Amino acid sequence: MPIFKSFQFVYFIQSRNINLSCVLNKIVPNNLKGKSKSSQEWLTRQLNDEYVIKSRYHGYRCRSAFKLLEIDKKYKILKPGLSVVDCGAAPGSWTQVVVNKLKLDQEPTDKLQKGIAIAVDLQLIQPIKGAIVLSESNFILPETQEKIKSLLPSGEADVVLSDMAPKATGTHDLDNTAIIHLVYSALKFSIAVLKADGVFLCKVWDGSDVEKFYQTLQSLFTTVKRIKPKASRCNSSEIFLIGIGYKKMNK
Ligand SMILES: C[S@@+](CC[C@H](N)C(=O)[O-])C[C@H]1O[C@@H](n2cnc3c(N)ncnc32)[C@H](O)[C@@H]1O
Repeated sequence: MPIFKSFQFVYFIQSRNINLSCVLNKIVPNNLKGKSKSSQEWLTRQLNDEYVIKSRYHGYRCRSAFKLLEIDKKYKILKPGLSVVDCGAAPGSWTQVVVNKLKLDQEPTDKLQKGIAIAVDLQLIQPIKGAIVLSESNFILPETQEKIKSLLPSGEADVVLSDMAPKATGTHDLDNTAIIHLVYSALKFSIAVLKADGVFLCKVWDGSDVEKFYQTLQSLFTTVKRIKPKASRCNSSEIFLIGIGYKKMNK
């Protein structure tokens, strides 16, 4: 590429907030013939993605595991003995992380406090050793939430996670409204089940409604943070919001 053109290229990439490492040094798969443009892009992205490679190596069902691992490394939210609800859990990599951090995949010992991990999703979740799985269940339905409550010890949770995401339509406003609807549902559920000092972590797509949701979290939790994990794709608008220290009102 002539030097002038390559400067123009770099300017184009940077002016659109695209990370250069995302577009340079790509390996192109050799089985793209006959595939749609979006399939070709997906295959190329998968082949080049360090977190896809790492998730295969560590046996995680998808790369999302590394987002939760990174958040947990910083905020230490997952510990043995806790009750954790994972909303929007399919295929199951966050639940795999939860089970591992709570040591639910190990034989119980006298020393180990027994926690609980409940995974719920609209889609099928293949069994995860150590977790209770509610597959093909719509989280926003009252009966699903009642079922989760009935499974929680004393109907209470220490941590509620939501990585729920609607099927993207591609229309920014519609998609943002849909994901905000899901996180409000998860938050309302959290208000009902979280113990004092509990933790709420959710994914949103950055947009105009996020600020209001962030402020709502500030009124309910001692500490609220906005997080963009390294494992979150640089060209994705997803961010995570965490509320730590639930200020539980006396009933
Ligand atoms: C990004 S994926 C979650 C990935 C998961 N955290 C993991 O690590 O494997 C988002 C999930 O949200 C689920 N979802 C969307 N709306 C939902 C709802 N109303 N109830 C339950 N799950 C929902 C989708 O079916 C999808 O599996």
